[in-house]
Amino acid sequence: MRLTAIVPCLCALAAMVPCFLCMFAGNKPGFMEDYHMVTLNTSRIGHNFLVNSTLVPAGDNILTDVFRNASSSITSSINSALDSLAAELGLSDFYSVHLLNYCSGTYTTSALASTTAPRSTITKNVTSCSRPRALFHFDPTAALTRSLNTTTSGSTNITLSTLHWPTELSTGITALRIAHHTAFTLYILAIVLAFLSFLSSFFALFSAGRLSAALSLLFAVLALGALVLASAVVTAVVVRAADVVSMYGYRVSVEAKRGGRFLALTWAGSGVGLLGVLWWCGEFVVGRRGKRTGRGVVADEGVAQPASQ
Ligand SMILES: *[C@@H]1O[C@H](CO)[C@@H](O)[C@H](O)[C@H]1NC(C)=O
Ligand SMILES: *[C@@H]1O[C@H](CO)[C@@H](O)[C@H](O)[C@H]1NC(C)=O
Ligand SMILES: *[C@@H]1O[C@H](CO)[C@@H](O)[C@H](O)[C@H]1NC(C)=O
Ligand SMILES: *[C@@H]1O[C@H](CO)[C@@H](O)[C@H](O)[C@H]1NC(C)=O
Ligand SMILES: *[C@@H]1O[C@H](CO)[C@@H](O)[C@H](O)[C@H]1NC(C)=O
Ligand SMILES: *[C@@H]1O[C@H](CO)[C@@H](O)[C@H](O)[C@H]1NC(C)=O
Repeated sequence: MRLTAIVPCLCALAAMVPCFLCMFAGNKPGFMEDYHMVTLNTSRIGHNFLVNSTLVPAGDNILTDVFRNASSSITSSINSALDSLAAELGLSDFYSVHLLNYCSGTYTTSALASTTAPRSTITKNVTSCSRPRALFHFDPTAALTRSLNTTTSGSTNITLSTLHWPTELSTGITALRIAHHTAFTLYILAIVLAFLSFLSSFFALFSAGRLSAALSLLFAVLALGALVLASAVVTAVVVRAADVVSMYGYRVSVEAKRGGRFLALTWAGSGVGLLGVLWWCGEFVVGRRGKRTGRGVVADEGVAQPASQ
């Protein structure tokens, strides 16, 4: 019996939880929506174009035409700086990227922060999520086109090219697909290895041998490696995607928000995994020292006992 093995045993189990949550967050509308990887805020899409004539290519006022033709409420939407322009166009206010799918919806109670409704009070109302897929990657052009195709509200005949949707933004994000697939694969690997680490630590509870401890340490190290790699790759994807959107989204007033909670969750999982590894390392050190001093104690007692009797 080795009761101390309960700690790495629990660590292995605990490290699996963030992996599962990272994978399934945003799986269906409203489920852990705050744990998105990155969110595109398209609520004011096209706004910069409309107010800043220097951004509009010479002789190109299609967008203004579309807005003028669409409805009279548009002008007030633009000026009030409170309403969602996306809704007028038949787009969603935001597109949040998760590991297996993306979700879209509207901001409540308003798309824009104001003195009466600070940014912290704005919440997401998810209206739809794409079907989760194992090897998913986010393609903003496809997502927005799908919104335009499926919504009947808003102005008709608007395409992404009408909106001067920057193609660099889409190519920049779809370029991350290999990294996205890699992160998914590493999470699966981390879950499998963490489970093996749990099993071996569990057996180590009942066998005090060095082999079970060594095996447990090995699986704990491998699981930690997979989880740290997954977290690193996912962090790179999140940071890069947000950078791409800030770089090219400005012209069409599209912003990105990094998923701080998602990153905190995945790195917390890595921290728990590290604890399990350190515990087994400590077990080895203490075990070795304990054996040495242990023999000494037995010898001392052996001598001392007859003397005291
Ligand atoms: C219009 O866009 C140009 C080019 O990006 C920028 O330098 C300028 O500050 C913008 N003007 C306003 C009023 O936003
Ligand atoms: C907007 O309306 C005007 C006249 O009503 C029309 O000539 C023009 O083609 C329309 N533009 C678009 C993009 O529908
Ligand atoms: C969305 O983007 C717009 C335009 O950049 C910004 O004014 C607004 O505050 C953003 N909304 C949220 C909820 O981040
Ligand atoms: C969320 O959106 C749905 C559909 O647009 C709407 O029926 C519902 O009232 C909204 N929820 C909130 C809290 O605004
Ligand atoms: C949207 O509609 C256009 C033309 O109507 C079509 O070419 C395109 O494939 C559709 N896209 C999606 C994502 O459904
Ligand atoms: C939309 O496009 C179709 C085909 O190009 C055209 O027949 C229709 O009049 C257009 N609708 C509007 C509102 O511009």
